[in-house]
Amino acid sequence: MIVRTPLIAGNWKMNLTLTDSVSLIKSIAEAIQELTNVDVLVTPPYTSLSVVKETIGDARIALGAQNMHWESKGAFTGEISGLMLVEAGCTHVILGHSERRSLFQETNEMVNKKVKAALEQGLIPIVCIGETLEEREGHQTFDVIQDQLNGSLAHFLVESIIPRTTILAYEPVWAIGTGKTATPEQAQDVHQYIRHWVEGHFGKDTADHLRILYGGSVKPDNAGELMSMPDIDGALVGGASLRPEQFIPIIRF
Ligand code: 13P
Repeated sequence: MIVRTPLIAGNWKMNLTLTDSVSLIKSIAEAIQELTNVDVLVTPPYTSLSVVKETIGDARIALGAQNMHWESKGAFTGEISGLMLVEAGCTHVILGHSERRSLFQETNEMVNKKVKAALEQGLIPIVCIGETLEEREGHQTFDVIQDQLNGSLAHFLVESIIPRTTILAYEPVWAIGTGKTATPEQAQDVHQYIRHWVEGHFGKDTADHLRILYGGSVKPDNAGELMSMPDIDGALVGGASLRPEQFIPIIRF
């Protein structure tokens, strides 16, 4: 049986000053010293990346960004490229977060271009998908997930191959920052659907290795239950990743 190492990722969104970031990383680094069976990742705002990288030092904490542009350079005021993220020490990048999709009009097509560019730069993409409350109540969850996967990974479907290090994150929009979490069973149903979809398009080996994270109001008291589900391989944590007293117990689920 394939054992997928769980990944606990903190999406800091537009939060934390440089000083707060350094202090949070120090606490996480100290707390995870003895842990070997879980991977940890943080995704600070762009302006904190280098400082956070420096503070991480030799600690087993990976660094990621929350977004990037698909071009590597050029006249794109306000944008950051994958090349720049690599230079700042990133190994991962979150793409297609629901906040990017809803607040900044990011489409599946744009996400697809970003995923392709990230992989070309050697970054591991964390591709986010998830339905709204209206879509869930309208029994459209699986259709929406399928659409987002088909669109966001369109380039790779043509080739029928995607690196098995790619990470997918199921984040039901109705659970983000609302305190409402999907039940472990609700999340597992969607994760299982996603893994079947991956198997259908990219084969069993990729489906067995690829990690699927759950995100949406993950807290210390629900992390263990969610993580016990067979197709949930980690968590993408927002609010609770900003506070060591919440994030560290989640890492230790
Ligand atoms: P919350 O954990 O604050 O609900 O945010 C989840 C999220 O959007 C992670 O990317």
